[in-house]
Amino acid sequence: AIQRTFSIIKPDATARNLTGAINAKLEAAGLRIIAQKRIHLTQAQAGVFYAVHKERPFYGELCEFMASGPIVVQVLEGEDAIAKNREVMGATNPAEAAEGTIRKEFALSIGENSVHGSDAEDTAKEEIAYFFSGLELVG
Ligand code: CMP
Repeated sequence: AIQRTFSIIKPDATARNLTGAINAKLEAAGLRIIAQKRIHLTQAQAGVFYAVHKERPFYGELCEFMASGPIVVQVLEGEDAIAKNREVMGATNPAEAAEGTIRKEFALSIGENSVHGSDAEDTAKEEIAYFFSGLELVG
């Protein structure tokens, strides 16, 4: 089915001017970028977004990193968009990411891993709603 998923190009990637290269991979995979904006989160805003990881040992580091520079938040649309995006992103840890994936090519470490993508339909909905109004989604 046609789905929508939420995506972030993280500070390590915007810092290295990789927005276009990452978007090219998303589009080549058949994902349509139906909304996109460049923003700079506060640590508090990052903390709300990643609240599900609050108890993890890396939570503080994660929020600090996500607020360390600009990010690009996006909504991607396409056939099985959630799984397709996770496939093109590759494994969370770039050392385990498959050849040709975004994280294999661009990620620096498990923390500085260049992209985020929603893991399920309910989280995709929540994450999209945190950053975008309905009017900003142009399918
Ligand atoms: P993401 O898909 O954005 O969701 C949660 C993020 O936490 C994940 O990508 C990683 O970047 C980060 N993360 C996961 N495990 C670790 C870890 N062991 N150390 C630092 N960051 C981590």
